Parts: sequence; structure tokens; C-alpha cells
Amino acid sequence: MRPGFGYYARAMARPIQIVPSVLPADFARLGEEVQALEKAGVDRIQWDVMDGVFVPNLTFGPDVIAAARNHVDVPFEAHLMVVEPERLMHLYAEAGCQMLIVHAESTTHLHRTLAQVRELGAQPAVALNPATPASAVAHVLDLVDMVLVMTVNPGFGGQAYIPTMEAKVREVKAMIDAGGHDVDIEVDGGISAATIEGAAAAGANVLISGSALYKYEQGLEYGVTDLRGRAEAAIG
Ligand code: DX5
Repeated sequence: MRPGFGYYARAMARPIQIVPSVLPADFARLGEEVQALEKAGVDRIQWDVMDGVFVPNLTFGPDVIAAARNHVDVPFEAHLMVVEPERLMHLYAEAGCQMLIVHAESTTHLHRTLAQVRELGAQPAVALNPATPASAVAHVLDLVDMVLVMTVNPGFGGQAYIPTMEAKVREVKAMIDAGGHDVDIEVDGGISAATIEGAAAAGANVLISGSALYKYEQGLEYGVTDLRGRAEAAIG
């Protein structure tokens, strides 16, 4: 008997990845904090790089990330919330970030910048602010390994999830599937036990959590397991 569509859909479902933001971590103990995240079973660690211009906040330079790099083996991704990322993205690759996420709104020549990320030997990803339409990535899906659909306006952790972004996740997923691209979809902002199922059901398979993960009273390992289980249940 031929398996039903559901079998193929599940068979094609991209693995769920739980990726913490270190924004809520104790910056005075970042080496220990990334070790705790690795022990908790995260798939990657996201560094929210902010320049105070693209977003109204200032966070990590490459030296801070480099200082944490040798404390763990888990891959790092740099979420470059900066203007003109092409000027400094090589520094984050050299600091040990395997993936570099460039905002579509942050560079005049997005196509060239993403190709340059690949030339640096890093995995390129492109991010969309809430007001930016999915169509902004239509002509770069062949250059990236991941599309990040922001589910908050970038700049700060602990903000409320924007549920209307689920429609954009579905739109991006349809574009990826229609083009036969091997591309993950990440969501970032307000991801918690209450929101992760909607995001995963919409098509996101890489889920960033910062404040909600750190708020689990049972600890990081429990939180990673709980979030992963909820996302996997949502995609059946
Ligand atoms: C926004 C940041 C946050 C952070 C996660 O610029 O990118 O989205 O990573 O924040 P939480 O999970 O606390 O909403």
C-alpha cells in the first residue's frame, strides 16, 4: 500500500533545531554560560550582534565571541543587526561563527554580501524584519542556508511574539519548496512554550529562544527538551 501524503510530508520535514540567544546570559561568565548551553543540548548558539545604529542597542564585538569560542564545540551563529555588515562580517567568521546572518535591510547589495559570506567559508543566512516582505529574499534563496523571519522588532530580548509573522513563515516556506531549495527557516523573538508550536506549524524548523528558555525553573536542559518536544509535536 502506498504511504499517504502525510508520510512524505513528515519524511521531508526538516529537523527541529533549538538555538538559544545568549542575551539573557550572565555576560561576566560567558565561558561557563556557553558550556551550560552546550550541556543542555542546544544545536547552535546565537550571538545577537548589535551596533546601536541598525538597532537601538549595542552588544558583542568579535573579541567577546572569540573568548567564548574555545569553551565549547557547538557551532556559533552571529545575528548581525548592524549597518553595512560587509565591512565587518569577516571578523565574526574569524572569531569562530560558522553561520553569519545578514539583515536584508542592512546592506545595499544583499546578493553580493551573501555570496561574500560563503567566500569567507561561513554559512550565509538572511534575516527579515517584521515589516519586510518575504519577496525581499526571492532572489537570494539559492545563496543561503537559512532564512530568519524575525518575530519581534530587533534590538532587545523579552519582547512579545508577533503572531502575524506566521503567515510570512508560511510564505517563505512556499517559496523555498517551490524552488526546491535546501534552506532552513528560523524564527527569533518571543519564542516560548506558548508560541513555539504556532511557529513550527507554520514552517519554522530553527527556533531561537532567549528569555523564555532562561526562565524555566527546571533549568536549561529541561527547557531545551520541552521546547524541542513541543515543536516536534507541532509538525507531527
Ligand atoms: C532581538 C533579539 C531577540 C533574542 C531572543 O533583537 O534577536 O529576539 O535573540 O529574545 P527573546 O527570546 O528573549 O524574545
